[in-house]
Amino acid sequence: MSGGQLYDTIGAAYTVTRRTEPRIAAQVWAALGDARTVLNVGAGTGSYEPPGRDVIAVEPSAVMRAQRPAGAAPCVAATAESLPFDDQSFDAAMAVSTVHHWPDPIAGLRELRRVARRVVVFTHDASEDGWRRRFWLIRDYLPEVANLTAGRPSLAEQARAIGARTEPVLIPWDCADGFFEAYWRRPEYYLDEKVRRGVSVWARLGPGVEQRAVHSLQADLGSGQWAERNRDLVALDAAELGLRLLVT
Ligand SMILES: C[S@@+](CC[C@H](N)C(=O)[O-])C[C@H]1O[C@@H](n2cnc3c(N)ncnc32)[C@H](O)[C@@H]1O
Repeated sequence: MSGGQLYDTIGAAYTVTRRTEPRIAAQVWAALGDARTVLNVGAGTGSYEPPGRDVIAVEPSAVMRAQRPAGAAPCVAATAESLPFDDQSFDAAMAVSTVHHWPDPIAGLRELRRVARRVVVFTHDASEDGWRRRFWLIRDYLPEVANLTAGRPSLAEQARAIGARTEPVLIPWDCADGFFEAYWRRPEYYLDEKVRRGVSVWARLGPGVEQRAVHSLQADLGSGQWAERNRDLVALDAAELGLRLLVT
């Protein structure tokens, strides 16, 4: 199933938990520099679209396009791998929380580079040392996440393909955007079905893995095991969990 088709299936309740996190938006918008025209690829419902610039969105899922608020940037039905725009037609292209859904991330990133003078991508380092060991939800409850990332280009390969540098993105403890890692200091949120439905990882792992992980987390929260294992997190206001900006 393509990423667009996946969101036609799971995207109907996206805005219940997913919205712009202002501190991450500030980092993305700063990386856009003085770009006046911006292409937002894998734009979804419009989170992180910068105000005060001329934005065009690209989004393959009709279910996601239908949830864009009135007054949001105009949105074209297309995919990252085949952008219907001329070379260098935007000052910048951005992509937030979407590259992991693209069937061919390298081709998509090269397309962003082709149509824009600058590229800003918010994504994660899916390596063992990055995201998978740093984030307790994967490390202790969802080792199957490794199957989702097997065979995908590494963050370094993605950066190399477009000549990007990488910048860490810290996740605030009270992150407003309910993406997968958002509740790292609020573990009980992962017990909430509505929180899980806003994150594609759960759907991709399937109900068997999901139920096992949720029951196991619930037991560890009840017994104090989670608190014991993650003592060091409680004092942090923001965490380095392997999330990154790629910036050209
Ligand atoms: C997790 S959502 C992120 C949406 C938005 N950028 C945000 O930050 O809320 C991922 C989006 O990527 C889109 N997508 C999936 N495959 C894509 C592709 N090949 N090209 C562009 N977008 C794609 C999905 O339809 C979905 O709307």
